[in-house]
Amino acid sequence: FSVKNRRKYRLPPGPYALPLVGNLPQLDKNAPFKSFLKFSETYGPVITVYLGWQRVVVLVGYDAVKEALVDHADDFIGRGPLPFLMRATNGYGLGISNGERWRQLRRFTLTTLRDFGMGRKGMEQWIQEESQHLRDRVKTFKAKPFDPSFLLSLSVSNVICCLVFGQRFKYEDEKFLSLLQIITNTLRFASSPWGQMYNIFPRIIQEHKETMDPSSPRDFIDSFLIRSNKEKDIPSTEFHHENLVSTVLNLFLAGTETTSSTIRYALSLFIKYPDIQEKMQHEIDTVIGQSCPRMENRKSLPFTDAVIHEVQRFLDIVPFSLPHYALHDISFRGYTIPKDTVIIPLLHSVLKEEKHWETPWTFNPKHFLDHNDNFKKNPSFMPFSAGKRACAGESLARMELFIFLVSLLQNFTFSCTGGPDTINLNPEFSSFGNLPRSSEIIATPR
Ligand code: HEM
Repeated sequence: FSVKNRRKYRLPPGPYALPLVGNLPQLDKNAPFKSFLKFSETYGPVITVYLGWQRVVVLVGYDAVKEALVDHADDFIGRGPLPFLMRATNGYGLGISNGERWRQLRRFTLTTLRDFGMGRKGMEQWIQEESQHLRDRVKTFKAKPFDPSFLLSLSVSNVICCLVFGQRFKYEDEKFLSLLQIITNTLRFASSPWGQMYNIFPRIIQEHKETMDPSSPRDFIDSFLIRSNKEKDIPSTEFHHENLVSTVLNLFLAGTETTSSTIRYALSLFIKYPDIQEKMQHEIDTVIGQSCPRMENRKSLPFTDAVIHEVQRFLDIVPFSLPHYALHDISFRGYTIPKDTVIIPLLHSVLKEEKHWETPWTFNPKHFLDHNDNFKKNPSFMPFSAGKRACAGESLARMELFIFLVSLLQNFTFSCTGGPDTINLNPEFSSFGNLPRSSEIIATPR
């Protein structure tokens, strides 16, 4: 920064940054979000740090995050760099794009998700069916200990498969397993999924083209192809092959690990707190019995709903959200956030803020219950972030959490060999997620 710029800009305050490495040496590698909380004790809720040479503004606490993402939504709409995704998708697709491309793909994706949410065979029904397949598979373990991680990933990915391809796959289908392998590789920063996606996708897309009825799209790909066809004479259209492949990859990446890890964490919590598990089962038995869970049941299951919210709050799966970005100079709270600054809405600080939660560091479903045990909302519940760039799959994810978990509790009681005390609820932080530790569980049929 030149002296002139320094005067022109009033940057948010922050700790002194070393040349080249910036504030990196001051960050706790196992839980960098905790270091940001610490900085904010000294510098307040809007702070500047340098991750290497990259200037980053961190927003801490509900007030700052909400004021930025919701009240100044248009300023904070940009997406920051996600290098591994950039390599995987060459800058195409919903999750990492900005400007007109993002606007078009976002609107299209939300509309399409909504349409399939209400269609003949809507997402709700797909999820119900998948939860039955999951139940049947869990039964085969016959109350012997097993690690549910992979199975849960398969079930949750299948929901995205239904949305995108209009079909689910058998849990042992080779095509399905290799698709998931690619997704896992992308997440682990390995190989070159863009190339691999190019090997699988053209065939799937070609099949869709050949069998599609333009008056009744079966899935996301059909809807996208119909739109491409409509815009085929518009040279600047965003509805082309690259954006289709990349957006589909985004849906898998964003929608699989997040949701399946949350379900897995919920199971660990049920084992840790058997009385909570029992109370949910009692509520479910009383209100819906053995009938297939539906979203409309949620309002009559306030305790279950509160527990699921609390699972998400307590896990805090994406403590940094995904990075936002200043696409232009932004004025905020008397500061200037200069163009090209990465912006981190610290969801961690919102989900664990002392001011807004009675016992932020304890698992406590009462956070979402009023004194009459009715469900109570809390605006600081922001695991999906907020504003115009918030999670595009929020309603789908919430439907999955509810239906999968209720169905599992209707059918099984969860425990583990060593008893509740052996469950470690501290997630492991890796790259940008708080991932629950995997452990073997026992699912005893009820
Ligand atoms: C983005 C959370 C499930 C699709 C995000 C973001 C968060 C998030 C925090 C970043 C928002 C921001 O930049 O401010 C979660 C959690 C989930 C979940 C906690 C499950 C428990 C899903 C599912 C889908 C999905 C099931 C698939 C339909 C997306 C997409 C984006 C996104 C496409 C990028 C949106 C954009 O850049 O405009 N999610 N998500 N997510 N999520 Fe989710």
